[in-house]
Amino acid sequence: MDLTENTSTENKAIGLKWEHECVPYSKTYGDHFYSQNNGREECRHVFIEGNKLPHRLASTNDFTIAELGFGTGLNFLETWNFWRGIRKENQNLNFVSFERHPLDAASIKRALAPWPALGLLSELLAKAWSSKTEKQNIWQMDPQTTLQVYFMDANAGLSEWQYKADAWYLDGFSPAKNPEMWSQGLMKSVFERTCKNGTFATYTSAGWVRRNLSDAGFDVSRFPGHGKKRHMSVGIKTDL
Ligand SMILES: C[S@@+](CC[C@H](N)C(=O)[O-])C[C@H]1O[C@@H](n2cnc3c(N)ncnc32)[C@H](O)[C@@H]1O
Repeated sequence: MDLTENTSTENKAIGLKWEHECVPYSKTYGDHFYSQNNGREECRHVFIEGNKLPHRLASTNDFTIAELGFGTGLNFLETWNFWRGIRKENQNLNFVSFERHPLDAASIKRALAPWPALGLLSELLAKAWSSKTEKQNIWQMDPQTTLQVYFMDANAGLSEWQYKADAWYLDGFSPAKNPEMWSQGLMKSVFERTCKNGTFATYTSAGWVRRNLSDAGFDVSRFPGHGKKRHMSVGIKTDL
C-alpha cells in the first residue's frame, strides 16, 4: 500500500492520504471516500438508481438533488454525466452539497483521474473549484446544471439552506466512524428539507441510522447493496 502524505492546509483537517497514487483515504475518519469496488458503479447503483432518478429526472422540469458529504465530487460528476445524457431542453438540475472539509482542487483532480470517461467534466469541476470561497459557492456548470456547495458542518448548512430537495444522497463516512453525519437531529432536518414524495438513498443499512430516518418520518426500505454490501437503504416522504 502506497500511503503518500498530502500537506496542504485544506487536506490536513481530513488527514488526507493517497493509496495507490489516486485513491483518497481520510486518516481523521479512518475511511475511504468511495467504494473500493468501483466508485462510479456504486454511485450509479446506490444514489442514482436508489432514488429512481432515471425515471424521475426524465419527467420533471426542475429537480434538486441534495447531498451530505461532497468529498471528491465523484457523485456529482457521475450524476451530471448521467443527466447530460438524458435531459431535454428546458429541464434544469440543481445539485446542492454540504461539506465540512473541502479538498483542494488538485486533490479533486487527482481523485477523479481513474475515470477518464469523466475527464472533461472533472476538468470543469476542478476549474470551478479553484475559485471557491469560504462558505457558500454556486457555479453554473452548464446552461442546465447548477452546483451549490456549502463548506460547513452539515447541521449548520441545513439550517442555512431553506429549500427542499427532490432526492437526497446520504454519503457521510461510515456511521460508526462519522456518527454526526447520521444523527437523529440531522436526519430530521433532511426530512424537513424534502419535497412531498421526495426520496433518500444511502449505501448503509446500519440499524440505528435506519431508525433515525424512520423516526424522522421517512418510509424506509432495504435494497440489495452494491458490491460486497448485502443491503443499502432507501426511503420516501409520503406525508407533508
Ligand atoms: C464518504 S465521503 C463523501 C464522498 C463523496 N460523496 C464523493 O463523491 O466523493 C464523506 C464526506 O463527508 C464529509 N463530512 C464528514 N463529516 C461532516 C460533517 N459533519 N458535515 C459536513 N461534511 C462532513 C467528509 O469531509 C467527506 O468528504
